[in-house]
Amino acid sequence: MKTKGIILAGGSGSRLYPMTSIFSKQLQIVYDKPMIYYPLATLMLAGVKEVLLISTPKDTPNFEKLLGDGKRWGISIDYIIQDKPKGIAEAFIYGEKFIGDSQVCLILGDNLFYGKMDFLRRAIEANEGATVFGYRVQNPESYGVVEFDKNNNVVSIEEKPKKPKSDFAIPGLYIFDNSVVEKTLNLKPSPRGELEITDVQKEYLNLGKLNVEIMGRGIAWLDTGTPESMIEAGTFIHAVEKRQGRKIACPEEIALGMKFITKAEYLETVNRLPDCSYRDYCLRISDEYE
Ligand code: G1P
Repeated sequence: MKTKGIILAGGSGSRLYPMTSIFSKQLQIVYDKPMIYYPLATLMLAGVKEVLLISTPKDTPNFEKLLGDGKRWGISIDYIIQDKPKGIAEAFIYGEKFIGDSQVCLILGDNLFYGKMDFLRRAIEANEGATVFGYRVQNPESYGVVEFDKNNNVVSIEEKPKKPKSDFAIPGLYIFDNSVVEKTLNLKPSPRGELEITDVQKEYLNLGKLNVEIMGRGIAWLDTGTPESMIEAGTFIHAVEKRQGRKIACPEEIALGMKFITKAEYLETVNRLPDCSYRDYCLRISDEYE
């Protein structure tokens, strides 16, 4: 089953004002690159080569300027403008044509993951119905929360509950079969007028088709909701990159490593980059790949 990727990078980002008064949240920097690089890298590492980015009228041109058509990284990136954000699940309505008859992996543009992405590749391959993840956090009330029974069966899914029934938040990384489009089209908006991603998950849960996998402690899921969490994410990326001398979420390197492009194409792309430490890095590591 072919899997297409959607990055949802909309929203007003008002919680990060004044930083977001010119550029959207997902264009802000996380240490040494724009935030959007990280979710894009996650999709690429999962083997997803066809990506749709959905954003606001104001920000979409900036994303296009930054990422282009994806060709230089051996992928394709399409863009769709979301006039007024009315919930995460709207991504499937905007994305209907793009999705076609594929299954879809949706990632929120402000969700950063670090670690071995094998779990995601496996989940994509094995998906029937929907697969979402559970990640233990200290503040589950800020997220969608999944509750399990003693046998690890999913009992409930709640969006930002005041009294969370577990510590397992649901990260903004979801895999849905093709029926997600139809399910979303039939979905009623929540009391706050949004098509909630948790309601889509509940549809699958009611049909017995929701698989929730625990995302282990070996994966870092970083938050970017506040200036503090953004600097923490940046510090984390900095610490790991500095220690290893390797970049996290470098699309050029991932494209080469995943064999989305040949070495010659890689060098052509990298040689076109401006003279900077990012380019030096790309040149330095090229010998490690065939
Ligand atoms: C959204 C979803 C929530 C999910 C979270 C992950 O919330 O509604 O279920 O846990 O993303 O980042 P938001 O943070 O956009 O309000």
